[in-house]
Order: sequence, then structure tokens, then C-alpha cells
Amino acid sequence: MLKDDVLYVLEKDKGNIVTGGNLAKEFAVSRTAIWKAIKVLKEEGNEIISVPNSGYVLMGASDNLLSRSIGENLKTEFIGRDILILKTVHSTNQYVKGLDIYNAREGLTVIADEQTQGKGRRGREFLSPSREGIYMSILLKPEMLLKDTQFLTICTAVAVSKAIESIYDIYVDIKWVNDIYYKGKKLCGILTEAAVSAESQSMEYAVVGIGINTGEVPYEIRDIATSLEEAGASKISRNKLIAEVLNCFEDVYAYYSDEMKKKEILEEYRKRLFVNGRKVLIAGQGEDLKALVIGIKDDGALIVKDENGEIRYIISGEIKKVEEES
Ligand code: BTN
Repeated sequence: MLKDDVLYVLEKDKGNIVTGGNLAKEFAVSRTAIWKAIKVLKEEGNEIISVPNSGYVLMGASDNLLSRSIGENLKTEFIGRDILILKTVHSTNQYVKGLDIYNAREGLTVIADEQTQGKGRRGREFLSPSREGIYMSILLKPEMLLKDTQFLTICTAVAVSKAIESIYDIYVDIKWVNDIYYKGKKLCGILTEAAVSAESQSMEYAVVGIGINTGEVPYEIRDIATSLEEAGASKISRNKLIAEVLNCFEDVYAYYSDEMKKKEILEEYRKRLFVNGRKVLIAGQGEDLKALVIGIKDDGALIVKDENGEIRYIISGEIKKVEEES
């Protein structure tokens, strides 16, 4: 679409004047067509200044999601090779699940500027204000059993952590099983949803949903959540981070045919697991369970010692509370 192409050029030269004549020439259209495209872009909320007799400037603070810009940094074979960008959607996970999955290619990625009903784990909402985060879902068609879904979440947490750390000067922690933290506050949540074949109990498809707070954190969750901006990341480009998440994800996703890779992932996961050696409260086991975290099993289960001194392996549920270190 012309307006996306125009935005791409303005984004590349953010803060500088791009002439209408050059844009018209580049896309072989009239200046009027460019003017119309700019008008729509402005209506969509882009801060573009028209400089009389000169051209257009996209102001520096803009961070538009553009598939072309994501593509420039994408090194994958199949993850993110089909990309759909939406302005607003109820939930990107829900959107993917509603597609014609069997005709969609593995790796298809849906990204939105805003989610009106972003889904978190255990029926919670994931607040997803417009342009203040990355809200994305990846469609997978792995040949694995349902019980391995947890490992997919673990892979995703490692991929997102590595992507963040490779672009910004920020080191993140992981809270079993799916949360990425920075200095005690949540920076990213992951929700993996899978559909299973009734006879074989094998997975028909999985949707891995990733929500990363990049900008302003909603008021309601400021005590418990943070964002890349708050963590001091400079020059945040959502497009660049999305590409890196997809690159890292494809790399870790190879784990299920590669035992060495699996070991590496577990090592990366364990090294970021900040709940190790801490007393926690675990929800999802009937009554909340008070226990001491010992580590992570090779299948991703959390190893804990309960109050009776018994070792338990937790395969589902979540850590509701982490006690302060004494
Ligand atoms: C959690 O923290 O409990 C999981 C949050 C997962 C949020 C992401 S945002 C993209 C995708 N779409 C959703 O509706 N949820 C996931």
C-alpha cells in the first residue's frame, strides 16, 4: 500500500525532510497521491509535519510497526516470513486461532499496535495500550505431545530474553514459567495456547503469544510492571526488537530435534531464573502451595521443597508470590 511505503521512507529518515517530489518519483505516483497518503497517515496518528514548498518530516518519537522494517532485520527461514500487522485487535492469539490454520504457514506472525482484550494466563487480562508495547503471536505446527507445550513457553522466554539483551544494555530475569522481569517488575508475559488431536494427543498447532511492555506502563499496574523505556533502553524500535525476537525464536525452536540445543536452552533459562533458592507461593495446585524453589527439571517442571520437606515437581500453575530474600 502506498501509505505504508511512504511511511517506511519517512521512518528511515526520521526527523529529516523528505521531499514530496522524491517520494512521488520513488513510487512512480503523482505528488497529489503522496499528499493523500500523508493525509491518511496523519489521520492515523502519525506526527508528520508538512513543510511548505519543501516536504514532510516524521517526528523522532514515532515508532511505527512496519513489515518491511521488520523484514530488513529478519534472518529466519520460516518464523515471521508471513507477517500481518494490525492497528487494533481483541487479542493476537485469538486472531491467529480464528484463521484458517490448516492453510496458514507455520511461523505466521500477527502483531498489533493495540489489543482490546489481551489475554494473560489463568484468564487474566494483559493490558495492551496502543503503541506502548509489542503484542505478537506466532503460529506453530510442531510434531510434539501436549505435555511438551510447557517447554515451548520456556524456549520463548529464553528467546525473548536473548533478543532484549542483544539489542539493549539490559539484563533480564525469568520467573517460572513465563514471565520476564527487570529489577523485580514484569516486562514481558508469554501465553502459549495449543490445540490437540483427540486420538493421538499430539499437537495440531500452537500459538505462542508474546507481550512486551516497551513504552508507558498503564497506571493500574505500575507497582508490578515495567517497560523497556522505564528500564532505560534507548532508541527503542519495535520493528527491530520484533525481528530479533523472531530470529532468536527460530533458533531455540530447533530444540525438539536437537538435544544439545535443548540443554543450551535449559542452561540459559536456569541462569536467569531469579526464584531459585527463594520461598514462593504457587497457585494452581488446588490450595496455594508454600515452597522453596530448588530448580528446574529437564522437562521444564519446577522443583520445589514443600513445608513438609517433600520434593515436588510442579508442571502447571504459577508462582503467585516470591518472598523477599532474608
Ligand atoms: C501473561 O502474562 O499472563 C501472559 C501474557 C501474554 C500476552 C500476549 S500479548 C500477545 C498475545 N495475545 C494475547 O492476547 N496474549 C498474548
